[in-house]
Amino acid sequence: MQQTTQLRLHENVQFIYELVLAQMELRSSGVQFEVGSSLRSFSTNGSLDPEGLLRRSAYVMSLQLPGQEPQCTDYHHIQRFNQTQSINQYLTHWFYPYKGKFHPQMIRALLGIIGLRPGHLVLDPFIGSGTTAVEAQLLGIDCIGVDVSPLCRLISRVKTQSWAHLSEIEAASEYVAPCVRDTKQQRLFRTVEDREFPDGPVKDFFDLAEMIARSDNSRRRRDPVDAFVYNRDRMFASVGDHVEVKESLGLEFGDVQVLDSDARALDVPDESVDGIVTSPPYSLALNYVKNDEHALEAMGYDLSEISEGFIGVRGRGKERFSLYDEDMRQCAREMQRVLKPGAMAAVVIGNMVYEGSEIDTTAMFIQACESAGLVLEQVVDKIIFGLYNVMQKEYILLLRKA
Ligand SMILES: C[S@@+](CC[C@H](N)C(=O)[O-])C[C@H]1O[C@@H](n2cnc3c(N)ncnc32)[C@H](O)[C@@H]1O
Repeated sequence: MQQTTQLRLHENVQFIYELVLAQMELRSSGVQFEVGSSLRSFSTNGSLDPEGLLRRSAYVMSLQLPGQEPQCTDYHHIQRFNQTQSINQYLTHWFYPYKGKFHPQMIRALLGIIGLRPGHLVLDPFIGSGTTAVEAQLLGIDCIGVDVSPLCRLISRVKTQSWAHLSEIEAASEYVAPCVRDTKQQRLFRTVEDREFPDGPVKDFFDLAEMIARSDNSRRRRDPVDAFVYNRDRMFASVGDHVEVKESLGLEFGDVQVLDSDARALDVPDESVDGIVTSPPYSLALNYVKNDEHALEAMGYDLSEISEGFIGVRGRGKERFSLYDEDMRQCAREMQRVLKPGAMAAVVIGNMVYEGSEIDTTAMFIQACESAGLVLEQVVDKIIFGLYNVMQKEYILLLRKA
């Protein structure tokens, strides 16, 4: 009879950096293992917390204890609740086609690798489209997400709060009528019988459905009313999936707070967070405000006014780089300030290509972290897809507060 426990990775795990993270994930759970010849399976005779692995692992698909049938991890089940064609866009991850989203499986792994467990608090000072928040929530880890972009805050809220308000959202949809005649009109829907939604999860949900429809219209020329109805219905289905995954796997969700704050002056107390998972803005190369201008304008923002808060857009030419460096140094000091002693940060960062030349923003940031008192413990190389024009390679930096 087989005496060892066998672990198998998910079929979609294929890049070297994923194999590296899969091994780091096992080590962070205290598993001593031998790597199988395919590199995608592991065996262990040592002590193991099967329950913890089944609950938390991102890269392990199944675990077979000696003499037992293989058991699948929670993540294997979670990934199946997917209303899209893309394997990464399960549950609410697909809400809004935000450029530069994290790969959710990698974030789940990094949360574990930096030692975060249920009840801990993670911070993402650049929450973007909320990937860290969704993954932390699924793992029972509390999360504070910060972003200067009101669109990013809206996306992050809707992705993580709608599950608790599904019946209100469904009931409210009776009062929502798509109403566009002119695509430049402020709203793509109106509430019938003079019912205005107060600020809150119901309003957020329909506002985001509208922003997704506007984006579909501007990128794909899809009819805005059709896009609104189509996306709203798909969003309902994904929020339903979120509820079902919680119930069927008995998950205790972590709390999520999305803050309108600035990564250079975080509204977060000293030494209060157990870990940071983030990626800084690539705004020297990618103008976030321009990229989302349709949505931001429809939300009623003045683009030039809100641009000022974004890191990487101040100044011109060389001055722009030095201001970016200065801002990122301030962010590193803030990260150091809010981390508990000994706690870790995982930062996904790449060198940017600006007007054809590569700028070593990674080295700049490592230097900023070290002078702020964050010690670099490991660097994992990561190739990237989808942003070739602005960046070819990213690195995962693992830093620890001294
Ligand atoms: C690389 S993106 C984050 C993407 C995110 N990891 C995701 O999965 O969607 C960086 C984010 O930094 C935000 N940002 C720029 N300047 C900021 C500042 N001063 N404070 C906080 N957030 C800022 C941008 O709005 C953008 O959403």
